[in-house]
Amino acid sequence: MSGNEMTVKAVSGEYSVLSIAGGAKRAAEIWGLTGRRVLVVTDSGVPEEYAKRTAAGCGGSVLTLPEGEATKCEKYLAAIWSECCSLGLTRGDCIVAVGGGVVGDIAGFAAATYMRGIDFYNLPTTVLSQVDSSVGGKTAIDFGGYKNIVGAFHQPKGVILDEELLSTLPARQVANGLAEAVKMAATFDEDLFSFMEANDPRDYLGEVIRRAVSIKIKVVEEDERESGLRRVLNFGHTAAHAIESAAGFGDILHGEAVAAGMIPMANGEARERLIRVLEKLGLPTRIPVPAKELTRAVCHDKKSYGGKIMCVVCPEIGEYAIEKMTPEEFERRIAEAEI
Ligand SMILES: NC(=O)c1ccc[n+]([C@@H]2O[C@H](COP(=O)([O-])OP(=O)(O)OC[C@H]3O[C@@H](n4cnc5c(N)ncnc54)[C@H](O)[C@@H]3O)[C@@H](O)[C@H]2O)c1
Repeated sequence: MSGNEMTVKAVSGEYSVLSIAGGAKRAAEIWGLTGRRVLVVTDSGVPEEYAKRTAAGCGGSVLTLPEGEATKCEKYLAAIWSECCSLGLTRGDCIVAVGGGVVGDIAGFAAATYMRGIDFYNLPTTVLSQVDSSVGGKTAIDFGGYKNIVGAFHQPKGVILDEELLSTLPARQVANGLAEAVKMAATFDEDLFSFMEANDPRDYLGEVIRRAVSIKIKVVEEDERESGLRRVLNFGHTAAHAIESAAGFGDILHGEAVAAGMIPMANGEARERLIRVLEKLGLPTRIPVPAKELTRAVCHDKKSYGGKIMCVVCPEIGEYAIEKMTPEEFERRIAEAEI
């Protein structure tokens, strides 16, 4: 098989992440789905033919959910379970996600829970989901006003990264997903970061995604359940979550909040270099919330430990450190980055 195949060696099982332009058309064949009952889950914002084609390749059925974060809720989780029941899916059957992180998270959680867990395959169709959410096995829905509060670790059986699917994605969504790739390069891979400085990452989407996802794979292999190294992937996220809740989830996309959230946590030259790459991508580099308000929101967040705030910082491009900051130190960093 041509294309670039990476293997994730998770404790709970191995699976392949195949990066191959045009691979989506052959997803059912690549994964050997024929002969099983297959439920393909997608959303209304994903071009219809992506899911139809996947289902046609294996005689599966398509369930289309409404697009948007609000879909990641118990109502649509139950809708997937209902569809599994009416199609008569059993332990040997599977769910395939064709969509962005929203579809992947809810369809993955449905697969984790239906009959105590059935196989799950992921065909991610956004940059964010190709670069980040499709690999690593985190599945979830939002509940009671909290993001990703109910979920499970359930690794996929296979992932196909097909850059051709990204040709229909709006420019803002492309940049949004690239923020996560910039994050991984900034903390783990100076070579990839330099590549992003020397080129426009949007002209090399397939390559940038492949290189960034290989970082994610290494991290997930070392720390599947986020008890150590995987926390570094939260670079920029402590401030980002607070920005998102202050903005009321919606006006600002997640990657945009991460972009702004990385700046105060990067030091000196690393900060300058980050700003230049993010500006090239049209991503925000200034925190749109006053430092005091942001700090107050962060202190209510789950990453606050014994009065201190756990932050990933970037001392140099390609390096990371984890620091526990007092709220005063955190606020100072945010305020100082705004000058
Ligand atoms: N599980 C994880 O490890 C993990 C990691 C990061 C983010 N997430 C989750 O991912 C979600 C965000 O994912 P996202 O940014 O992909 O958003 P998304 O799934 O909402 O997709 C963004 C929009 O693009 C549309 N779309 C998708 N593919 C398209 C295509 N090829 N062409 C045109 N339009 C297309 C969708 O319909 C949607 O309207 C959040 O819920 C977040 O919590 C999960």
